Amino acid sequence: MRAVTTAPMDRLQIVTVPQPLRLPSFAEDVAAGFAARPKKLNSKYFYDAVGSALFDAITLLPEYYLTRAETAILREWGWEIVRALGNPVEFVELGSGSAAKTRILIEEALRVQRTLRYSPIDISAEALRASAGSLVESYPALRVCGYVADYFSILDTPHLRRTEKVLFMFMGSNIGNYEPPEAVALLRRVAALLKPGDGLLLGADLKKDRRELMLAYDDAAGVTAAFNKNVLVRVDRELQADFDAKQFEHVVEYDEKTGGLHSYLVALSEQTVTIGALGTTVHFNDGERIHTESAYKYSPEDIAEMARAAGLSVSRAWFDGDRRFSVNLLVRA
Ligand code: AVI
Repeated sequence: MRAVTTAPMDRLQIVTVPQPLRLPSFAEDVAAGFAARPKKLNSKYFYDAVGSALFDAITLLPEYYLTRAETAILREWGWEIVRALGNPVEFVELGSGSAAKTRILIEEALRVQRTLRYSPIDISAEALRASAGSLVESYPALRVCGYVADYFSILDTPHLRRTEKVLFMFMGSNIGNYEPPEAVALLRRVAALLKPGDGLLLGADLKKDRRELMLAYDDAAGVTAAFNKNVLVRVDRELQADFDAKQFEHVVEYDEKTGGLHSYLVALSEQTVTIGALGTTVHFNDGERIHTESAYKYSPEDIAEMARAAGLSVSRAWFDGDRRFSVNLLVRA
């Protein structure tokens, strides 16, 4: 019998999901962040085209172990991960980006089931189209239904279609960039979508030696510093401001108690910056900080507690050989 193959474009669908609520604009968030004490900017604004390219460069740095460790887990344990809920299963990935690591799981799944449906959700239409297009080209048995959306909005809308048991994925330590109460709230929203038999695969970075963590977020080549300062370049470009990024220093601190790795931009002199689009000026004292990112690290017990608070439980956990990173399968408690 001849195998029936479908053209790649017949196996690809991209849905643009409208925002259900009006979210604050970049300008509104910047105004509110500079009015706060201490001053702050949300780390989601790192990811313009330059910031996304700098993040890709970070993932290749010798000090930034996270991506390599998670990839090693998927390579070693992918066969077990894709079988953990039973098959057939379909994948829904929150914040899929280039989906490079997901390929490992897609290939594993296609070894146990004839076809696979993959629904990546990403705010960047370009990243989604590029990765979804290349996936359907690579795997003739794969169907991709991509959603251009903020993943918070898709969790609250009936847009997401599903036909099988679903393995949701939230990988790459993205959970760590949420303050702990927000992380629980996000997991609770995913938990509400889980039907019996579904699961959520959560990639979370682990607590470890302070020096190793500080180096991962303050590398010798200065790529992470450039990534952090790029948010000021974005404010200059998009909001007609006159920040001089050289007047700020990239500083990281690790709070062992909470597992919070905090990044700041610290003013190297007293200065006043004009933000044209806001019709305002912002004053910085010498040494004053802008908080730009938190990256929380967890122990396996912290992950179990976070899952419990969201109405979930950890049914399996996989670690890399050096126990730097974890991939956890969460199911309804
Ligand atoms: C995207 N996110 C998981 C990265 C992290 O490790 O928190 C962002 C990053 N910030 C500095 N380096 C990488």
